[in-house]
Amino acid sequence: MANKPTFPEGFLWGGATAANQCEGAYNEGGRGLANVDVVPIGKDRFPIIAGQMKSFDFDNEHFYPAKGAIDMYHTYRDDIALFAEMGFKTYRLSIAWTRIFPKGDELEPNEEGLAYYEDLFKTCQKYGIEPLVTITHFDCPMYLIEEYGGWRNRKLVDFYERLVTVLFTRYKGLVKYWLTFNEINMILHAPFMGAGLYFEEGENKKQAMYDAIHHELMASAIATRVAHEIDPENKVGCMLAAGSYYPYNCKPEDVFQAQTDNRENYGFIDVQSRGEYPNYLLKQLEREGVVIPFLEGDKEILKEHTVDFISFSYYSSRVSTTDKELLDTTAGNIFASVKNPFLAESEWGWQIDPLGFRITMNELYDRYQKPLFVVENGLGAVDTPDENGYVVDDYRIEYLRQHIDAMNDAINLDGVDVMGYTTWGCIDLVSAGTGEMKKRYGFIYVDRDNEGNGTLKRSKKKSFDWYKKVIATNGADT
Ligand code: BG6
Repeated sequence: MANKPTFPEGFLWGGATAANQCEGAYNEGGRGLANVDVVPIGKDRFPIIAGQMKSFDFDNEHFYPAKGAIDMYHTYRDDIALFAEMGFKTYRLSIAWTRIFPKGDELEPNEEGLAYYEDLFKTCQKYGIEPLVTITHFDCPMYLIEEYGGWRNRKLVDFYERLVTVLFTRYKGLVKYWLTFNEINMILHAPFMGAGLYFEEGENKKQAMYDAIHHELMASAIATRVAHEIDPENKVGCMLAAGSYYPYNCKPEDVFQAQTDNRENYGFIDVQSRGEYPNYLLKQLEREGVVIPFLEGDKEILKEHTVDFISFSYYSSRVSTTDKELLDTTAGNIFASVKNPFLAESEWGWQIDPLGFRITMNELYDRYQKPLFVVENGLGAVDTPDENGYVVDDYRIEYLRQHIDAMNDAINLDGVDVMGYTTWGCIDLVSAGTGEMKKRYGFIYVDRDNEGNGTLKRSKKKSFDWYKKVIATNGADT
């Protein structure tokens, strides 16, 4: 229906992927091993993500989906050509740290890895696609985990600074938009993915997590400083796994619980965007006996190098109550939440709330007053292709239509400043949460199953032409 106002001129429409979920080729081009490679599909995945890793060796009992993923390492030129056919203005991807620094602490980068991304960015440039690069999307070199203990160790801030200095220097003129850490708040729920953390028996987990959190926040501020120094045109964003908490009912205890739960996430962005730890978080950590490992000068660095824009993923709203144990819970983007009785849900139990998207955008904009960039949104669903690989994915179109229309309202009715929108998994890829292939988000079907069988052939789904039309009409015709 062409009954909506258009999006702002120059709005960055596109799609998003992450290196470990699409590239594969885990041991090619001089790449080192990363945390994301050693996480198998199946029930043993979840304790590892939560930080209970016992052994780092691959075994024959498990399937490790990131090793091969959808082989985009070899197919990126053709895949980007398909993105261009849809009219993408931007393509969000992540750098695999271990392609640039295989172990993480080397002094010199791996030229083969740098050349790989250079060609990828030039391919984007050929089509007028602006790359949006996540520097760290849940990946940490295994060597840094084994030798240094992951992000709990301050040395990682230096290694990260070396990484970003190399990236900003080498890709000056090719990349302008950067995100420092994907879903930085995920560290609280999936510390192995978020910060390469695994915990020793009896260790104070909370302290280890806040050590890692402070180091990531410092690394993010330093990266912002370096990005601006190397090229004042660079724009750096933080990245939040967003989705506002609603009180389950209007009793003040639930309202306060929702505020507390929201702050658990906003705390990260408060530091990255406002430049200091908020009082509520300082007080909470003080009560819990957690010490933030400030070094001299840290506070000034945080204050001076705040982000240029706020990026976030949105899949669903969440619900808070003090009576949690009495209520049904629902799955969600790693965070389990109380089930909202007013919402439908996906096949994976993620609840669907387009108005919650508008609410979340308004909250973020009210709070930070900086441009927003929606860098993930979408529906993970089972697709059934015909013999040509064509999928009639009306359910995906419906989900995206409702969310794009809600974003349109946030922009055109509420005046929220939004720079762009990249749907998650624009080409089918491995699920970060479950490791499955059958949980698909794409406009492009990839012939591969949960066990790694399939030709890897790409084919367009119905949503491919639909999204092409949305972009061509700048969001008016959804
Ligand atoms: C976000 C991540 O949490 O959600 C992505 O940034 C992830 O990496 C996406 O893939 C969807 O989650 P899932 O578990 O369905 O892959």
